[in-house]
Amino acid sequence: MNLHNPVDPELEKLEISLLLEGIFRQYGYDFRNYAYTSVKRRVTHRLQLEGFDTATRLLDGVLHDPEMFHRLLGDLVIPVTEMFRDPETFQAFRDGIVPELRKLPYARIWHAGCSTGEEPYSMAILLEEEGLLDKTRIYGTDISEGALEQAKDGVMPLERMQLYTQNYQASGGKRAFSEYYVSDHGLVLMKPFLRKNIVFARHNLVTDRSFNEFQVIFCRNVMIYFDTVLREHVHRLFYESLAVGGFLVLGNKESISFTPMAERYEVFDDANRIYRKVV
Ligand SMILES: C[S@@+](CC[C@H](N)C(=O)[O-])C[C@H]1O[C@@H](n2cnc3c(N)ncnc32)[C@H](O)[C@@H]1O
Repeated sequence: MNLHNPVDPELEKLEISLLLEGIFRQYGYDFRNYAYTSVKRRVTHRLQLEGFDTATRLLDGVLHDPEMFHRLLGDLVIPVTEMFRDPETFQAFRDGIVPELRKLPYARIWHAGCSTGEEPYSMAILLEEEGLLDKTRIYGTDISEGALEQAKDGVMPLERMQLYTQNYQASGGKRAFSEYYVSDHGLVLMKPFLRKNIVFARHNLVTDRSFNEFQVIFCRNVMIYFDTVLREHVHRLFYESLAVGGFLVLGNKESISFTPMAERYEVFDDANRIYRKVV
């Protein structure tokens, strides 16, 4: 961490832990149980950009300068996302979960850690094509207010559209993807009808409680940044928030196995990390 002297890993760990403690006590954001290697990488990156050599100096900076804190926050939340990310998961949703949702009068789907909204908009498109959009409410939540503002606007970068079109087609999309957006001055705006059943709201998986009962929860590529304690906490929150028979959809590198909640779910689709709450 110190750019000039050899790094003492224990001292470095202590300094990062004090930085996270300071952030929590000053700003209320709790990264204390995020996976250490990932946090260390993000902090090192920020140190280089700010020209500091230790996390202690960065702590001094963020405590006295809220703008510096927001720059560090931007590093810590990792907003990377795509529309129809991992298309096979959306194909599995169409094939396996849509028939179950058809049987219900109404459904609520929660995208926890939705970043800039690509995942909820993908879901809205899928449900529209399956004739289920009008009877479904989609909740997109995230810790990052900046990401949510972008999500609410429904604006996507034009240069991402080629990838998103490929993903959409690979996920079993039934129409021309261009039917869902208009482009203008290098930006793409998702059509407003997709937005009408999506609620975007701030929700922190570490500190906030359950806020509804859902038939489906997507939480993909969020818990990979959490340590075991925090992952277990979030799995409890999801268990409390899912209806019996509801589905939990995780990221490709995530699993519910080896968590205390595992026995309350059955594996619905192992390859696509889809689990169904049974009790
Ligand atoms: C890598 S993105 C994943 C986005 C999307 N789920 C996907 O798979 O494409 C991780 C998101 O989790 C959010 N996040 C991180 N910690 C969170 C927390 N404690 N509560 C809610 N969201 C959080 C970040 O702000 C970020 O937008």
